[in-house]
Amino acid sequence: MSEHKLPMLPPNAELETKTVLKQLARANRALAELKGYADTIPNKHILINAIMINEAKDSSAIENIITTHDDLYKAMSDASGASPAAKEVVSYRTALWQGYELVKSNEMLTTNMIVEIQGIIEKNRAGIRKLPGTVLRNERTGETVYTPPAGETEIRELLSNLEKYINEDYNDIDPLIKLAVIHYQFESIHPFYDGNGRTGRIINVLYLVLMELLDSPILYLSKYIIRNKSAYYSLFQEVRTHANWEEWIVYILTGIEETAEETLRLVKRINAEVETMSTEIKEKLPKIYSKELIDLLFYEFYTKTVYIEKGLSVTRKTAVNYLSSLEKEGFLTSEKIGKERIYQNKRLYDLVKYGQ
Ligand SMILES: Nc1ncnc2c1ncn2[C@@H]1O[C@H](COP(=O)(O)OP(=O)(O)O)[C@@H](O)[C@H]1O
Ligand SMILES: [Mg+2]
Repeated sequence: MSEHKLPMLPPNAELETKTVLKQLARANRALAELKGYADTIPNKHILINAIMINEAKDSSAIENIITTHDDLYKAMSDASGASPAAKEVVSYRTALWQGYELVKSNEMLTTNMIVEIQGIIEKNRAGIRKLPGTVLRNERTGETVYTPPAGETEIRELLSNLEKYINEDYNDIDPLIKLAVIHYQFESIHPFYDGNGRTGRIINVLYLVLMELLDSPILYLSKYIIRNKSAYYSLFQEVRTHANWEEWIVYILTGIEETAEETLRLVKRINAEVETMSTEIKEKLPKIYSKELIDLLFYEFYTKTVYIEKGLSVTRKTAVNYLSSLEKEGFLTSEKIGKERIYQNKRLYDLVKYGQ
């Protein structure tokens, strides 16, 4: 129940407790290792895209928007045959990319950007809630656990306070601790009618990029949240009702540590697969091998004639020849989806699907 107004930031509490600092060191170490390795990889687009699609799927799954990799594959290559859930997941990835580009080019993370991100996820321009009546319920019992602030003016005030907290250096608090505070505050403001959870989890990674703790948007907590879902919900309430920041912050920091380690393993495997496939194509199809071709094959987990044609500046006929040679040698598997023939990079697809 919310008899009290949501307080502005910064929290009036000691956040850097001994327990927090211990976990903070571990999270920072794991994150630095991931950043260090990812920085050395030549084509980051490959990694980002592959990792983002999993995040889009997982973050949506937290909100009961459930889809499969196969369905997603369909939605990406030909939207007409895909389920609504898969289309929503693909929009989530679009929102992630857009958010990333906005933060990179503006070196800020503003309320307007957040509104834009949520608009892409939801495919509408409803913007900030204007009508009262939004409540957060316990999924099982249906009981109201929290009533977020109502009224656009109050919501906007809280968002501008949050925007300041995000973009200004606040009394030397470590950015990873701030990330936990930001996620709590954003979800508690709950500025939108829907999409708050997903938008909030996009803000998390954008904040890491903003703080230069990551260069590429490749660290996501959704998988960890799925594994520890009831704590995710109950710890929001713990902060609210008992000002129990410590447990919430430790929860987020542990998530950062665990997911950074998992992502590092996945990144290494994707990178190794790019190398392996390059070597094999060079050996078996020396006439068509080029670095650009490899990049195109890993750009998504599928490709089409037109991408090869444009990407390599070759004729359509040459592109068709390349693709059929690659298929014959077992590097790609093709299938007709809609009007087009789609070539799947199954090795990449399986890596992404089955994870680390
Ligand atoms: N007690 C709570 N206090 C604050 N935020 C909460 C609480 N319980 C859940 N949340 C947040 O609300 C999100 C769900 O809000 P919603 O607008 O439906 O997002 P989405 O459409 O992305 O599902 C959860 O993912 C979580 O981040
Ligand atoms: Mg929802």
